[in-house]
Amino acid sequence: MIFPIFFTFVLLLSISDAAVQDFCVADYKAPEGPAGYSCKKAAKVTVDDFVFSGLGVAGNTTNIIKAAVTPAFAAQFPGVNGLGISLARLDLAPGGVIPFHTHPGASEVLIVTQGTIIAGFISSANTVYLKTLKTGDLMVFPQGLLHFQVNGGGTPAIAFPSFSSPSPGLQILDFALFKNDLPTSLVAMTTFLDVAQIKKLKGVLGGTN
Ligand SMILES: *[C@@H]1O[C@H](CO)[C@@H](O)[C@H](O)[C@H]1NC(C)=O
Repeated sequence: MIFPIFFTFVLLLSISDAAVQDFCVADYKAPEGPAGYSCKKAAKVTVDDFVFSGLGVAGNTTNIIKAAVTPAFAAQFPGVNGLGISLARLDLAPGGVIPFHTHPGASEVLIVTQGTIIAGFISSANTVYLKTLKTGDLMVFPQGLLHFQVNGGGTPAIAFPSFSSPSPGLQILDFALFKNDLPTSLVAMTTFLDVAQIKKLKGVLGGTN
């Protein structure tokens, strides 16, 4: 009976060996699909695929929102592909704003490492969850819900959002409404906003029609 047991054991080992893969470092030469990038050949993977440098440097906040997000998502950080996680750095100058947005593919946990950030999200029951976060505070933003971050003080703020997906996705509400060619009349009908306000925001954000 020893032989069949041994054979079964070897068979199980080889099955698990085939089924379990340690990692799937992104191969940027192949197209990205819904499950992420294809895997780079293991022989070509190096430690640098698992290391991302650059989040120690402040992003450029000289822009309309006085804010910068430096992503370390699968598109920038090949090692997180397939692992269900990713990270970014958020810089908010005084007066800086990350406008209402959603991540269709991920929940978010944000840690504030410098300054003060007013953050909030709106549930699908339209309840507001709002908090002023100080250095060391964490806040979670459930997947898909509209949320924002605003600098809550007079000094630069830094935070590191991490995500439950290597490609969390991003849709910014004001960009969706005012940064494209959807006719102003339809934006007005579907949002109940005044035409003048819509035209103004289209002008600021680069929308047309
Ligand atoms: C930051 O961005 C602004 C606007 O694009 C640009 O003029 C400026 O040179 C940038 N600063 C740095 C340090 O890259």
